[in-house]
Amino acid sequence: MNQALMEILADGKFHSGEELGAQIGISRAAVWKQLQKLEGMNIPLHSVKGKGYRLPEAVELLSFDKLVAKGFPSQQFASSAIELSLDSTNDAMMRKAEENHDQRHICFAEMQVSGRGRRGRQWVSPFARNLYFSVLWPFSQGIAAIQGLSLAVGLAVQRSLSEQGVQGVGLKWPNDILVSAGVARGAKLGGILIELTGDVSDACQVVIGVGLNLDLNNQDLAKIDQSATGIKQLGGVLDRNAVAANVVRHLCEVLKQFSLQGFAPLQEEWNSNDAFKDSPVKLILPSSEIQGICKGVNEKGELQLETESGMQSFNAGEVSLRAISQGET
Ligand code: ATP
Ligand code: BTN
Repeated sequence: MNQALMEILADGKFHSGEELGAQIGISRAAVWKQLQKLEGMNIPLHSVKGKGYRLPEAVELLSFDKLVAKGFPSQQFASSAIELSLDSTNDAMMRKAEENHDQRHICFAEMQVSGRGRRGRQWVSPFARNLYFSVLWPFSQGIAAIQGLSLAVGLAVQRSLSEQGVQGVGLKWPNDILVSAGVARGAKLGGILIELTGDVSDACQVVIGVGLNLDLNNQDLAKIDQSATGIKQLGGVLDRNAVAANVVRHLCEVLKQFSLQGFAPLQEEWNSNDAFKDSPVKLILPSSEIQGICKGVNEKGELQLETESGMQSFNAGEVSLRAISQGET
């Protein structure tokens, strides 16, 4: 019923309680109850006496039918969910992993109340403007076999955006999708959060979360403490269902190859999309910093840094890569 109400409200116009009730065949009191539920889920509803209820703007909601029509590979998943509001799609898939160990699942949310980046950092997740989804994917060979996975996922997103005509998208080791050219160069367009559950030495389940900005407004940007942008702001396409279907299709292709062959076959392509390749960078380690020239990644997906003491390799983990300007060296 919530979904039916949201589909009417998606036009961003005012609808009275009476009209909403008539359209979906429920009483005004039942409409009011549903609207209270939506508000309780933090969905940004405006109500004005005498006019009714509306969303602050028209939105294109995700819908299973539209996703499938745009090529979403539904047969790859034992279940596909679209939720209006969640704490975090990664949390939802981690919960799913507790009850279901050997199948693939996917979950999208129109908004996240506690969207997360790495190390518990917040992922700003406004309603129905961007993409937030997580995939639960079983891996049979334990944690060692997923080295380089966040890089492979980034590449899937980059391939998808490039296929959809969004140019100038680059990758930042180990889990960011960035603008790599033009005035918005360096702005963060998306991120990947990989979490593991199960037996780290044997059969484990991996939750792969992807956040991709399609449309960030100034209010969103004010909540983000680094340069960020969305595909709309870059002048790109904006059919949310089409973008979602295409990204997931590429993701499934990459994950299937990765499960069999690991990161090595993707190394060259990743390096040719490395937003920092041959640039001066600093690597922030838990208790020190190291500067060097970014030389891409090796066949395991480890960062290659040309430093004063020679070429060094780094694993993803408690490390953050940052660009440095000439003055800083
Ligand atoms: P690292 O290099 O260590 O991964 P990071 O700054 O990219 O550093 P992440 O944990 O990967 O950190 O991502 C979370 C960060 O992303 C937040 O701290 C915030 O700066 C930024 N952020 C949050 N929401 C968004 C969003 N919707 N779009 C772009 N960037 C965001
Ligand atoms: C990062 O840049 O650190 C990763 C951001 C990952 C955000 C996505 S949005 C869908 C999924 N759910 C979350 O809470 N996080 C990931």
